[in-house]
Amino acid sequence: MRHSYRSALVTGASSGIGTSFARRLAADGCHLVLVARRTDRLDRLAGELHKQHDVTVEVLPADLGSAAGLAAVRARLTAGDPVELLVNNAARSARGTLAELTPETIDAQLSLNVTALAQLTRAAVTGMLDRGYGGILNVSSMASLTASPGSAVYGATKAFVTSLTESLHAELAATDIHVTALLPGFTHTEFHAANDVEISYLPDIAWLDPDTVARAGLDAVAAGRPLAVPGAQYKLAASTVQLAPRSLLRALARRYRGV
Ligand SMILES: NC(=O)c1ccc[n+]([C@@H]2O[C@H](COP(=O)([O-])OP(=O)(O)OC[C@H]3O[C@@H](n4cnc5c(N)ncnc54)[C@H](OP(=O)(O)O)[C@@H]3O)[C@@H](O)[C@H]2O)c1
Repeated sequence: MRHSYRSALVTGASSGIGTSFARRLAADGCHLVLVARRTDRLDRLAGELHKQHDVTVEVLPADLGSAAGLAAVRARLTAGDPVELLVNNAARSARGTLAELTPETIDAQLSLNVTALAQLTRAAVTGMLDRGYGGILNVSSMASLTASPGSAVYGATKAFVTSLTESLHAELAATDIHVTALLPGFTHTEFHAANDVEISYLPDIAWLDPDTVARAGLDAVAAGRPLAVPGAQYKLAASTVQLAPRSLLRALARRYRGV
C-alpha cells in the first residue's frame, strides 16, 4: 500500500538534500520536525514552509554527534506527537586516507553517520510498531556499494546504513512500516565544501540536484521499496557494480580517487 505521511522528522534539514526533503514534505501537507545545528537556518526554513503550506514546523536544534543532542531527538521521537516518517539524512565525511584522519575525525563520522542513525531508527520504530504504521528513510550513498579509498571511514559508514536498512526492511516486511535506503551519487549541496571532499575531477554527468534526490527517496519510502538510486546514470552504475568483480571495482576506485 502506498503511504501518505502526515508528520515527519528530518535530520540535517538546514541545507542540501535535507532542505529539499523538508520542502517536498511540506508541499505535500506534512507537519515537520527539523533537526540540525544551525538554528538560524532552521528557523528561516520553518517560517517559510509554515507560511507557504500552512503546516506546523517545529525546530529542534541538536548536534547529533553529541550524547545530549542525540538524547533530545530520541526523546522527541518517543515522547512527543507521533512522527510517521523519520528521515535520517544528516551525515559528515572527511578528506584523507585512514592513516591521515585524526582519531577525533573518525569518531565524529561514526557518532553521526552510524550511532545516531541506528539509535534514532530504533527510537522511531518502537512507536511505529505500537501504532502499526510508519516509514523510515535512511540516506546512504552510492559509496556504500564499493570501496572508497580516500574516504574509507565515510564509505564504511554508508555500507552500514545500506546494510542496516535492508535488514530492517526484511525484519518489518510483515508490518505496514516502510523502510528504505536512498543511495545518491554526487549531488550539488554544501557537503563537499563542508567536508573538504575533492570533486574537481568529476564530469558534469556525475551530478544530481538535491530536489531530484529527495523526491526519489520520498517516492520509494511511500511505495515501500527497500532501495532507491536516483538518476539513470547511477541506476546503470548500481547494476554494473552488482555484476563486476570486486577486484576490478577496487582498481577503478583507486584510479579515480587518486590514492
Ligand atoms: N552531496 C552528495 O554528493 C551526497 C552523495 C551521497 C550521499 N549524500 C548523503 O546525503 C545526505 C545529506 O547530505 P548533503 O549532501 O545534503 O550535505 P549538506 O548540504 O552538507 O547537509 C548536511 C546536513 O547535515 C547536518 N549535520 C551535519 N553534522 C551534523 C550534526 N553533528 N548534528 C546534526 N546535524 C548535522 C548539517 O546541518 P548543520 O551543519 O546545521 O548541523 C546539514 O543540514 C548525507 O547523508 C550524505 O552522506 C550526499
